[in-house]
Amino acid sequence: MTTATPARELDEAGPARFEELIAADQKVEPADWMPDAYRRTLVRQISQHAHSEIIGMQPEGNWITRAPSLQRKAILMAKVQDEAGHGLYLYSAAQTLGTPREEMYEQLLTGKAKYSSIFNYLTPTWADMGSIGWLVDGAAICNQVPLCRASYGPYARAMVRICKEESFHQRQGFEILLALMNGTQAQRVMAQESVNRWYAPALMMFGPPDDASPNSAQSMAWNIKRFSNDDLRQRFVDMIVPQAEILGVTLPDPDLRWNEERGHWDYGDLDWDEFREVLAGRGQANSIRIAKRRRAHEDGAWVREAARAYAEKQQAREKVAS
Ligand SMILES: [Fe+2]
Ligand SMILES: [Fe+2]
Repeated sequence: MTTATPARELDEAGPARFEELIAADQKVEPADWMPDAYRRTLVRQISQHAHSEIIGMQPEGNWITRAPSLQRKAILMAKVQDEAGHGLYLYSAAQTLGTPREEMYEQLLTGKAKYSSIFNYLTPTWADMGSIGWLVDGAAICNQVPLCRASYGPYARAMVRICKEESFHQRQGFEILLALMNGTQAQRVMAQESVNRWYAPALMMFGPPDDASPNSAQSMAWNIKRFSNDDLRQRFVDMIVPQAEILGVTLPDPDLRWNEERGHWDYGDLDWDEFREVLAGRGQANSIRIAKRRRAHEDGAWVREAARAYAEKQQAREKVAS
């Protein structure tokens, strides 16, 4: 038989227990004591990640009805649906930290919460579906694989499944570009033009350079983040250079060259002013994305009401039965 430990004692032992878990690289679970700042950091990071998955459906959803064949439509639809699923796992993980889902939605719809800047770029051509899969989902994988080992249990477990699906996404994007590069001259031009637009924004998905990323050190000390922004960016560049060669596309960076000494590819400076502009809401599609999300939220009100009414009815029935 176990005797329940009084809450006060649990609270007193909490900080030491938390430090122990982090030092032993073990998981922190929802019922464990955790510092307020750890909780706040996680809610911010996980909900921003969830918002990115949901907003990320828009640039590709826009192509579902225009994809060039039935097979391409089916693949793209499955991919976009996966992103909705990722959003839902992540909102659920964030909810375990005590923030209601409605509050997170509210922050997104009112512009208080951020989502990944990459989704504020437009997708004017079919080749953009290829570039998004190959480069954007590719960058997401580099960022997210280490998160499968994040110290917060529900987040880490959600990331395991998400990463499996992201690798399918990256392959489908690569395959779209490969088909175009093996096609007509006009298709090759379209693929190259699209890669030209997505390359630098994809590199900026890892966030500002390490010396301009003040919160990273704390996240690394808490085992939330495992590698710095610049390390992850380097991994990504090293991954895509040989893939670009197979595709036959040129990465639009004149400074890209193999550095024998470092054993890595050197790459050129990125336009961080553009990054800050898009982050500040002045990208190509910021207002379009939020307006569409708001409309979808309003249009979905009847579904939420119906689900609530159904749940209440079920509860009432269970009460009568018991
Ligand atoms: Fe995703
Ligand atoms: Fe994805």
